Amino acid sequence: MNDIKFYNIMTYGCQMNVHESEKLAGFLKERGYIETQDQNNADVIVFNTCCIRKSAEEKILGNIGAVKPIKKRNPNLIVAVCGCMSQQKEMADLIQQKFPFVNIIFGTHNLSKFGEFLDDYNTTHKRIKSIEEETYINENVPMFRTSGYNGWVNIMYGCNNFCTYCIVPYVRGREISRQPQDIIDEVESLLKTGQYKVITLLGQNVNSYGKDLDSNITFAKLMQKICELPYDFKLKFMTSHPKDLTDDVIDTIAQNSKISKAIHLPVQSGSNRILKLMNRNYTVEHYLEIIDKIKNKIPNVSLTSDFIVGFPTETEEDFNMTCELVRKVQYNGIFAFMYSPRPGTPAANMDGQIDFEEKNRRVNILLKLEKEISLQKNKEMIGNIENCIVERKLDTKSNDEYLVKTDSGKTIIVKNNNLKELTFVNVKITNIENNQLYGEVIE
Ligand code: 5AD
Ligand code: SF4
Repeated sequence: MNDIKFYNIMTYGCQMNVHESEKLAGFLKERGYIETQDQNNADVIVFNTCCIRKSAEEKILGNIGAVKPIKKRNPNLIVAVCGCMSQQKEMADLIQQKFPFVNIIFGTHNLSKFGEFLDDYNTTHKRIKSIEEETYINENVPMFRTSGYNGWVNIMYGCNNFCTYCIVPYVRGREISRQPQDIIDEVESLLKTGQYKVITLLGQNVNSYGKDLDSNITFAKLMQKICELPYDFKLKFMTSHPKDLTDDVIDTIAQNSKISKAIHLPVQSGSNRILKLMNRNYTVEHYLEIIDKIKNKIPNVSLTSDFIVGFPTETEEDFNMTCELVRKVQYNGIFAFMYSPRPGTPAANMDGQIDFEEKNRRVNILLKLEKEISLQKNKEMIGNIENCIVERKLDTKSNDEYLVKTDSGKTIIVKNNNLKELTFVNVKITNIENNQLYGEVIE
């Protein structure tokens, strides 16, 4: 008899979800389960879902449906669906009705009860559905980390911004910040192990960290305190909202060698009219001022952004302004999405919805433009000195090549050096071949 039990977690969506799957895995590990990639072998399958765009939801519903025959062969299999998609009441009802083989349904608010749900289901075999909103942070959640030398650390949950296209505030609730000491303790416990060399702070809008706390902590102060920890590591964070990216944050990034020089600053559109309809609370001019400040204070900074094309009423002229902004900023990389109406959000009911073909055309134009720019930006990196992490020795004939990674995640091949993996080195970029960067280590 084989009494080892296996789990399989399917994760969709953003880094927040990737990290939350580490928490789900923590509960399963605590109960003796071991990870498997093969759903046919699993005793528990968890779908950690995303609902940011309709395409994500459709894909997930298809993947949940595909579990039906597995459950038929293995009636003891436990199937759980959680995360942003199931936090929506209508969707939780739909999953309940459409997939009778799903045993546990819960949302983002009840993640810390996953262990209880599993235990309850294992004893009662009664279906569980739990999507009530919680407004406190449970600090006692187990974790099984799976992101190599990167440790994800939540600093806050939820979002107060209500951009008119976005479903996140509805499924993740209002902003709640963790206590600074809890965050610092978690970061320290990771760094102490020697295994984590990058710490990535997570929040939907990290720049408003601390606004809901009694103390006078800010995001900049939090980063400064973390950097005081006496270890060799890089501090990253995501995501920032331009309206809250204050000078003290830019200065802190500029002045602190431990903070990554890569900033993801989603702008969404280059048209003030569309930005207003999106409720973004800044203008293109204001955004460009921030970008100028960043470029002036942080030389060689890597800038990335998110864009939505085909927002209701977006004209060719609005779209051209977006392209113009991309040309002006010269991003190192962008994510461009076709607008997807999300139920219950204001934009979903706006007049002037754009059809799929047009959105598709615009997104392809934007991505093509960005590809040209990022190729050019890569070329311009020649001569730059970047502080990089040594990821691994390459398995090549010469046996003296290492792959190192810049703050922004670009890989550089470094030759003729005896480097130690997972240490930081300064690398001068010397050339580029087929869009692959090469460099040499300098003191
Ligand atoms: N449709 C398309 N893209 C969206 N995003 C958020 N909501 C939508 C939507 N309804 C994009 C934004 C955001 C990124 C995480 O996802 O660009 O920055
Ligand atoms: Fe969504 Fe806007 Fe909040 Fe980002 S800031 S999660 S886009 S509502």
